Amino acid sequence: GGGGGAGGMAAGGAGGAGWEGPPAEGRWVGGAGGARAGVCEHGAHVCAWEPADGAGGRLFLSARAAYAPPRAIRGGVPLCWPQFSDLGPLASQHGFARNSRWEAVEPAPPGPGAASFVLREGPPEWGRPFQARLDVRVGGQDLDIAFQVANPGPEAMEFTFALHTYFAVDDVAGARVEGLQGCRYLDSLRERAECTEAEEAVTFRGEVDRIYLDTPSRGELRVVDGAGGRAVRILKRNLPDAVVWNPWEEKSRRMGDFGDDEYHRMVCVEAGAIQPPVRLEAGATWQAGQTLRAESLS
Ligand code: BG6
Repeated sequence: GGGGGAGGMAAGGAGGAGWEGPPAEGRWVGGAGGARAGVCEHGAHVCAWEPADGAGGRLFLSARAAYAPPRAIRGGVPLCWPQFSDLGPLASQHGFARNSRWEAVEPAPPGPGAASFVLREGPPEWGRPFQARLDVRVGGQDLDIAFQVANPGPEAMEFTFALHTYFAVDDVAGARVEGLQGCRYLDSLRERAECTEAEEAVTFRGEVDRIYLDTPSRGELRVVDGAGGRAVRILKRNLPDAVVWNPWEEKSRRMGDFGDDEYHRMVCVEAGAIQPPVRLEAGATWQAGQTLRAESLS
């Protein structure tokens, strides 16, 4: 925590709408209908997304975000790989993909609004060979993020994964996450005790930190920004799980790269493959992704 944005880039109020990625830190890619996404090589990170409807940015980006290692960018879509949280062998929470410098694929993939990044090396603690790639495509009301990883090594590899998406909301008190009723979840605030979601929508009145298991994939999950009159539908591929997170007051104060009051303006819904972990055989490739589809409530 620690209040407002001291220095650094100006983040947009409602969800990164004012994000202007300087060349050293990122760039815009533009797609059909005037939609655009802000991407950084640091973390292969999608920092901002403005769909064609002109209703503003849909991703939250902290005014206190740092754009260089060892930090991950606070907001947008951090890639948690090869480990979500502490669920894997690494000491670093959420793995290393989000704080590694990826290489942009040149020339960019054909068609407007596309960017791709590759990563081929991890820290010595990881030790396994891999080739990871992230493809981003923006256009109209959609943002698509596709991840793939190949295992060129002689042994199978296990990992956990999440697209740690920070959705922008005008006011978390009016926000809800639909589509999870009846799903089992692990409550990370209660030592990952297993529960079942009874409510039609998840709402926020305090800290929430849950790993929902076997969640619906084809757009049934929807992040509704009631105060902003907007919503985003999540269409997932090969990502059965979904983490829902808001740090609320106390945890916000403990996070150095997050303003004390910023929890009012974000909700994380993180499409993932967490439990069970993914097992990738020698020579095999794993693919997963999400399409985010912006909607208006009126
Ligand atoms: C979420 C976790 O995915 O990420 C939370 O469930 C965690 O427990 C949050 O606080 C942010 O993690 P970090 O490492 O980016 O501060």
